[in-house]
Amino acid sequence: MWETNVRIAVVNLKGGVGKTTTAVHLAVGLARQAPTVLVDSDPQGSASRWDQLAETLPCRTVSYPKSDLGSRLPELLGGASHLVIDTPPGHTDIVAAAVSSVDTVIIPVEPLAMDLDRLSPTIELLSKTALANDPDVYVLLTRVRSRTRGSRSARELLEDRGLPVLRTEIPLLEAYGWGYGMVPPEGHRYGQLLDELLAEREGAA
Ligand SMILES: Nc1ncnc2c1ncn2[C@@H]1O[C@H](COP(=O)(O)OP(=O)(O)O)[C@@H](O)[C@H]1O
Ligand SMILES: [Mg+2]
Repeated sequence: MWETNVRIAVVNLKGGVGKTTTAVHLAVGLARQAPTVLVDSDPQGSASRWDQLAETLPCRTVSYPKSDLGSRLPELLGGASHLVIDTPPGHTDIVAAAVSSVDTVIIPVEPLAMDLDRLSPTIELLSKTALANDPDVYVLLTRVRSRTRGSRSARELLEDRGLPVLRTEIPLLEAYGWGYGMVPPEGHRYGQLLDELLAEREGAA
């Protein structure tokens, strides 16, 4: 069980890396333990659309694609315990507001050379934003192809750049792609990811 409230932002200025998929799965996993709000800060509204298609996810999904997100959080949370923010690929003002409002930032990235190279603007944004909240920042390898050495190479490269990479990896699976618009089942790889994040928090406490 999560002892304290969890606030996670899922961030990467590149599109199509698995942000929304990650945010929805984490929010649903947390919602199975305590009331959780998923803030969809992407003007494209994919997380909100997912919630609509699923005829409501176990978390409460709120669309708020604006850069005054931080000051509106108490209202958006409405007393819920946990918060997950899905963010847009552009709109750096919104992304900055999201990372300033959480204790944990997760950067999903596909272990491919171009995607790793395109991480720089996201890392720069994180280092430029005055983060009084000092969140823990982790890279999450997503859409990982089995039986390839991409994830191992990516892990080495990221760790050389001083970026902590989560041990849990999300495999490239049809089930994730086609799970869009459905309530994620229990016991998927994202459950393992939540366990890892909890262990990290306990370790740091
Ligand atoms: N682990 C995965 N395996 C297969 N497809 C995935 C996986 N994660 C995401 N996808 C698919 O990849 C595409 C981009 O994912 P999405 O979560 O929308 O990324 P983002 O929010 O970063 O744009 C979507 O079609 C999604 O269904
Ligand atoms: Mg998205």
